[in-house]
Amino acid sequence: MPDLTLPGLIDVHTHLRVPGGEHKETFATGTAAALAGGVTMVLAMPNTNPPLTTPEALAIARRAGAADARCDVGLFAGAAPADVAHLPALAEGAAALKIYLNDTFGRLRVDDLPTLVACFTTWPRHKLIALHAEQQSVAVAIGLAATYGRPVHFCHVSRREEIELIADAKGRGLPVTCEVTPHHLFLTEADAARLGALGDMRPLLGTADDVAALWAHLNDTVDCIATDHAPHTLAEKGSANPPPGVPGLETSLPLMLSAVQDGRVTVERLTALMHDNPRRIYDLPAQPETWVEVEMTPYEIPDAGWQTKCGWTPFAGLTAGGRVARVVLRGEVAYDNGAVLAAPGAGMLLPVHPTF
Ligand code: NCD
Ligand code: ZN
Repeated sequence: MPDLTLPGLIDVHTHLRVPGGEHKETFATGTAAALAGGVTMVLAMPNTNPPLTTPEALAIARRAGAADARCDVGLFAGAAPADVAHLPALAEGAAALKIYLNDTFGRLRVDDLPTLVACFTTWPRHKLIALHAEQQSVAVAIGLAATYGRPVHFCHVSRREEIELIADAKGRGLPVTCEVTPHHLFLTEADAARLGALGDMRPLLGTADDVAALWAHLNDTVDCIATDHAPHTLAEKGSANPPPGVPGLETSLPLMLSAVQDGRVTVERLTALMHDNPRRIYDLPAQPETWVEVEMTPYEIPDAGWQTKCGWTPFAGLTAGGRVARVVLRGEVAYDNGAVLAAPGAGMLLPVHPTF
């Protein structure tokens, strides 16, 4: 008997790097990492090369995903000023739209008002708009949500002032939701100094006060835990110009289970943050006969032995509260005590749409 049985977890923020970044991660390796972390459905970001801002690029990613994914995958379409005319066509093959309002890895970035308005007026209303928004960009996005009367989702909220603004917006009944990452909950700027490039990501790690604010809002304002799994190779991280981003799929649940052990979050709340809310917010399909069996024995997170192609973690040495023993996806054992059993192609590509 497992200590705990959870529904298959949903991670709404991952980078699986196809096309163009296959040396960092692929659908096969990224979804193996997902299963090892108890995650049976992921949404993957569009800052690939080429980015997923045209139907042609999205079709390439969809074909690769359908062939290689071991768990279910939905793709974000990306917003780019030169490609806004494609948005309605892209929507058919995408789970949601991602808009980058601040700089990060890759060139996707929107900083002109006409493109933002085009996103809010032409992206189909039944699909969500998610934003990378930091500092005052959060206020811009809340303004757009209010103006156009449609929901927005904030990715990886990391600062006290941001989570407090989102709490105020929610208090006024505005249609906003948000996610936080395990790295912004378990690491601070002091860890960034210790880790160097391995602790560099966007948004940056916060102060102890930022981290305290995220924990204080975990039981009300925060809707989802999402990893922002952003693998880069150790060689890239050791280079003169290291790209921002850290892997997280395999450590997200184990770290959050340490918060369960500490009494900082209940299993019910964790299930809402890692399954129920992501599914509701992104209107994702149910996965029948799908569950995760967990062993609640604390351990120290190791350095090596990962499924992700990048092969490292920024969390080595931290205490995990439990580990994934077994994952069952649609009635088949997909992961069993360290072994990924689901084959490439076992995952479904969402949305399943005949014309794309
Ligand atoms: C992400 C990546 O590497 O693609 N990097 C990061 O630091 N988070 C990009 C992103 O999610 O903004
Ligand atoms: Zn990201």
